[in-house]
Amino acid sequence: MAAGACSVLLWSFCMLNIVQVAVSAVVPGVGVNWGNLASHPLPPKIVVKMLKDNGITKVKLFDADSWTLNSLAGSNLEVMVGIPNNMLDYISDSLDNAKDWVKENVTSHLKPKGDKNGVDIRYVAVGNEPFLESYEGKFDDTTFPAIQNVQKALDEAGVGDKIKASTALNADVYAGDKPSQGYFRSDVRDVMLKIVKHLKKNKAPFIVNIYPFLSVYQTTGFPLEYAFFEGSSRKVHDKNVSYSNVFDANYDTLVWALHKAGAPDLKIIIGEVGWPTDASKYATPKYAQKFYDGLLKKLAEKKGTPLRPGMLSVYLFGLLDEDMKSILPGFFERHWGLFRYDGQPKFPMDLSGKGHDKMLIGAKGVQYMTKQWCVLNDEVKEESLIPSALSYACYHSDCTSLSPGSSCGNFNLRGNASYAFNMYFQMSSQDVDACDFNGLGLIVTRNASRGTCLFPVQVVSQGERVLLGYGVNIFLVFVMSFFIFM
Ligand SMILES: *[C@@H]1O[C@H](CO)[C@@H](O)[C@H](O)[C@H]1NC(C)=O
Ligand SMILES: *[C@@H]1O[C@H](CO)[C@@H](O)[C@H](O)[C@H]1NC(C)=O
Ligand SMILES: *[C@@H]1O[C@H](CO)[C@@H](O)[C@H](O)[C@H]1NC(C)=O
Ligand SMILES: *[C@@H]1O[C@H](CO)[C@@H](O)[C@H](O)[C@H]1NC(C)=O
Repeated sequence: MAAGACSVLLWSFCMLNIVQVAVSAVVPGVGVNWGNLASHPLPPKIVVKMLKDNGITKVKLFDADSWTLNSLAGSNLEVMVGIPNNMLDYISDSLDNAKDWVKENVTSHLKPKGDKNGVDIRYVAVGNEPFLESYEGKFDDTTFPAIQNVQKALDEAGVGDKIKASTALNADVYAGDKPSQGYFRSDVRDVMLKIVKHLKKNKAPFIVNIYPFLSVYQTTGFPLEYAFFEGSSRKVHDKNVSYSNVFDANYDTLVWALHKAGAPDLKIIIGEVGWPTDASKYATPKYAQKFYDGLLKKLAEKKGTPLRPGMLSVYLFGLLDEDMKSILPGFFERHWGLFRYDGQPKFPMDLSGKGHDKMLIGAKGVQYMTKQWCVLNDEVKEESLIPSALSYACYHSDCTSLSPGSSCGNFNLRGNASYAFNMYFQMSSQDVDACDFNGLGLIVTRNASRGTCLFPVQVVSQGERVLLGYGVNIFLVFVMSFFIFM
């Protein structure tokens, strides 16, 4: 709007409009997951600025790393911290361990009343999808006692009214051919009933991850339109309700399960929902845009689901692409970001749910490494030397975008090698030795990107962060065959 259009009388009205334009309102209840399984995580300060620039007010973390949490101090963002599965044993073991955890990772970040520089922690997700069938019961005995200990520790620290302990569950903890048949999976039913009772008593939420993309990916013949929100010709009729999207049907299956468990009004938070953009036939920016458009519009209209009309609380998955996530569930795993690895948006998205055709605001102040790439030297004529170097580079980096149908899926052997060499070189922070490949590699300064395929230049990242094996997200219940680049 032109400032000149504002008469003196209308000035305050105009200011109001300008303010509204500057901070476009994100649909209330919408937050994002901020994971850090990346070779070069962006500096947290830059990420927090990016969240704020986009008007995002809620964030969910997978741990309680102080590097990340310190950057959230004074940000006013509402935070959910996590306890990785590999700590469940320790936390369940004794209340003292839970108290130590709460002291170091929660209360030390809260500042006394009136001081604005604290971190606004609201939830602790104790474990991440601990009851996945693929974990074969490994965390069945420790999850519930760990939740109890953490809530008790929070209570004893005097913050239990404001900060609630729960656990982030995969939707595979319940099932049903129709929503009304929904109930908890038999092997975890006992523990789920205990958890539900505990959450109810402590006014804590039930946190569940729902992935329509995985329904499409896992189920041959799954009606694609049923994964989106525009209405599908295939509907599921259940009692007096007719479901036209799998998200609603899944959510209401949980509502029924909670009803049967004696907690019909338990608050539900969607811990993760989203759509990946690469490395599978249906993982494209176009489908992701369609999914988020429909989801955000639905959230903005406060439609809820047939059984739970009203506002829904959701955390989108995820904020950034993460090149070190496990690819056991599928190559798409490293491409869930609303933003690329460097904090740049991938497709138009309107977080206000009004469907405006605009891009999210990208990360500002990102420092890139030198503009150089590692590629296969054109001089190399002996192609039989290439495959072993290519396998090595892929095995130690990220070649998920080379898979057929992906953004770099049309290369010949030489193209594949160049892409792989560059990924290895960039993930090795452009170490010159990482572009040797027995003399096959060559460092170039001309942008090596081709067509739809981005050959990235990595960002400068504080190297002090140690990437320990926390919370690898394996949410498929089968082991798929995947490329072995050897
Ligand atoms: C606090 O959380 C961090 C990161 O998740 C973890 O490494 C550390 O052990 C925790 N502290 C305690 C006292 O448990
Ligand atoms: C379905 O029926 C139940 C009671 O039988 C009623 O409470 C509910 O509002 C109905 N839902 C719809 C969508 O008509
Ligand atoms: C390039 O790599 C992809 C992914 O591994 C593979 O499917 C394709 O066959 C490779 N192309 C050639 C010519 O080797
Ligand atoms: C290289 O080219 C691609 C595609 O044209 C572009 O998106 C990318 O920003 C370029 N990289 C650099 C470092 O200039």
